[in-house]
Amino acid sequence: MSRPTKFLLAEDRIPRSWYNIAADLPVPPPPPLNPGTGQPIGPGDLAPIFPMALIAQIVSSDREIEVPEPVLDAYALYRPSPLHRAHRLEAALDTPAHIYYKYEGGSPSGSHKPNTALAQAYYNKAEGVTRLATETGAGQWGSALAFAGAMFGLEVKVYMVRASYDQKPYRRNLMETYGAQIVASPSLDTEYGRKMLAETPDHTGSLGIAISEAIEDTVTHPGTKYSLGSVFDFVLLHQTVIGQESILQMEMAGEEPDVIIGCAGGGSNFAGLSFPWLGRTFRGGRTYKVIAVEPEAAPSLTRGTYAYDFGDTAQMTPLVKMHTLGHDFVPEPIHAGGLRYHGMSPLVSLLKEHGHIEARAVHQTATFEAGVRFARAEGILPAPEPTHAIKVAIDEALRAKAEGRPTVILFNLCGHGHFDLSAYERYLAGQLEDYEFPADAVAAALARVPAVAG
Ligand SMILES: Cc1ncc(COP(=O)(O)O)c(C=O)c1O
Repeated sequence: MSRPTKFLLAEDRIPRSWYNIAADLPVPPPPPLNPGTGQPIGPGDLAPIFPMALIAQIVSSDREIEVPEPVLDAYALYRPSPLHRAHRLEAALDTPAHIYYKYEGGSPSGSHKPNTALAQAYYNKAEGVTRLATETGAGQWGSALAFAGAMFGLEVKVYMVRASYDQKPYRRNLMETYGAQIVASPSLDTEYGRKMLAETPDHTGSLGIAISEAIEDTVTHPGTKYSLGSVFDFVLLHQTVIGQESILQMEMAGEEPDVIIGCAGGGSNFAGLSFPWLGRTFRGGRTYKVIAVEPEAAPSLTRGTYAYDFGDTAQMTPLVKMHTLGHDFVPEPIHAGGLRYHGMSPLVSLLKEHGHIEARAVHQTATFEAGVRFARAEGILPAPEPTHAIKVAIDEALRAKAEGRPTVILFNLCGHGHFDLSAYERYLAGQLEDYEFPADAVAAALARVPAVAG
């Protein structure tokens, strides 16, 4: 074997700290605001829903934040994750590009999500919390938190977006196997869910609604805190183990990426891979072409407005400055449930606004076509979310071919698709729909974004 396919790190190379991009950002991020007062929120505003250790991470400007030993121990169940060189995909595309992917699908729950689930479970447990409430879109986050709850001895209640609940019954079974309690959202378990169901009995749900239900659950159940799988700064922080490992692994491969790609729902796997690389740029290193890929059905970065908006539909979260389609916009039920979100992480939004990253939106049939092509070349069945990254990685590889330019491409294969076979079945049967950008619905939702100066 003259050409290595996998670049593997020993267990003692699991990063011992998370990389906090706040230390290197060229522009300061606008603060989250209290919707009642319009003033920046303080730690006290978040204390009812998050443990103090996580709140401290949101406001920290330390470049490195130590990973607690029990979290490292749990990471060792699946980290470091492999970096693969996609030799077979390169050959299938007949491209001069070198394509690498970081594979996060080998975690126990099948995606990058445990990187933060384990950290959040640990900090909550350490502060005496006994139960976590959360939402899940694709079911990947719910599975990750259910797994983390089992690792640290916490009860977990998951509000699962109805569209995914119906599309992926086995995700539900996995979460229940880990010991979590699952309900379809909108649900009858919260006042907000009951209100939504009264208005629309067959509601397909959305991440925005499920977040509202999970927060309502949190503030109405003693001993409970809220946990989330994306968007918030500390979630992105925990995901930087991915990018840090990839820097070591690309060194092993003797190459540096020209293009770095991740799919973006709330932005956590994209940030996890790209932030450690962007940090090198901000500290005076070379630049990379960094691309966030989102669905045409929920194109917050490419078609949304950069404005203060709520992270959830019921307006229970602080106001954050982000690319948004409007907090009550409900995206069509695409199979990439993890990308069905109206907003985007404030940090990713800031970087897009200031031109440090690019964004592209793609249709779902094109992403499944790319996913099938990838599976036939590399053998791994990708989750519908990372097929968005694969589609753009293939586009970039074909561009390199057309231009006759060797290009090194690195993308995040952030989850496997073993629970998404009904979506593949529909694609293979030619039954998958594309949804045009719903300009009118977005315009109407944007009209309801609160008017906040700044
Ligand atoms: C496999 C997978 N990829 C991507 C996402 C999108 O989230 P993020 O943009 O935070 O990585 C999800 C969310 O559920 C997911 O399950």
